[in-house]
Amino acid sequence: MAEAVIRLAAHRDIPWMVEVFRRAYEVEEDFSCMAASFDVNLEVQPDGCFLALSCGRVVGIACYVTYDGLAWVGLVGVVPELQRRGIGTRLMRRVLDKLREAGVTTIRLDASEAGYGLYKRLGFIDEYKTITYDIGDARLPTNVEGVEVSHDIPKYVMELDKAVFGTDRLRVIKAWVKRSAKILTVKNKGYCMLWNTKLGPLIAKDPDTALMLLVKARELGATSIIVPDANPQAMKLMNEIGGKITITCTRMRLGSKHAEDIKKIFGILNYAKG
Ligand code: COA
Repeated sequence: MAEAVIRLAAHRDIPWMVEVFRRAYEVEEDFSCMAASFDVNLEVQPDGCFLALSCGRVVGIACYVTYDGLAWVGLVGVVPELQRRGIGTRLMRRVLDKLREAGVTTIRLDASEAGYGLYKRLGFIDEYKTITYDIGDARLPTNVEGVEVSHDIPKYVMELDKAVFGTDRLRVIKAWVKRSAKILTVKNKGYCMLWNTKLGPLIAKDPDTALMLLVKARELGATSIIVPDANPQAMKLMNEIGGKITITCTRMRLGSKHAEDIKKIFGILNYAKG
């Protein structure tokens, strides 16, 4: 095999990126759903996706998004027939070099089992698990009152999200809202975002508020949520409603610890963006 060439991705590369992602992760997800993820990445971070090409064909990808001094790495994949040849490591080194140049002090990601060894070798350390639950058949009450649904992001939601996530990621939330994500709110107590069937982030000041948001989101079609196991109340809630675990990742970091209010995080945004 000729050595892979690494270059930045552009919007026109999205079909190839989806193809690599689909083959690397062995997923059958709808094309438009996966394409939207890359589209958001390239919109909020135009220089944030690297491609590996072999004989002119896209065979690997790695993306990042920066939030001030924090960066999130995700959508890392190499086609199965070219794995274990160093392509993933080269892509990640390019991402890390770029982030160091940009002066980022903390890099975080959610590692799959396949990626864990690679990140460990690059110096990432474990933080906690981020677990995807299928909530399609969860035992949830019906008819909650007090949850508003809209495509607007109220000011208190912006402030709450920033305080809990630990930095401003509004441009990313806005990019999903532009693609028809719904914002569900319980005034001054919490909010969640629902895009297609994916629920997250779910930020709430207490478990009762989180449950109200979950109930409404499921009513509107939510079937999955990613929960940090470092929040015991979120884990308890998943156990109580009978959520089924489908994927477990390890949240890892390189650099200084990022301050977040984990007790209010009942659902993360997604694996690629935090
Ligand atoms: N000969 C033998 N082994 C080699 C090698 C070579 N020439 N070059 C690298 N390797 C080994 C590495 O030491 C590494 O071993 P380790 O995992 O035991 O530490 C392993 O191959 C993978 O490293 P590398 O080849 O650089 O990565 P990759 O190109 O295989 O890509 C993933 C790694 C994770 C991107 C790829 O496996 C993948 O797409 N997996 C499915 C999707 C996924 O889970 N992505 C990660 C999400 S967080």
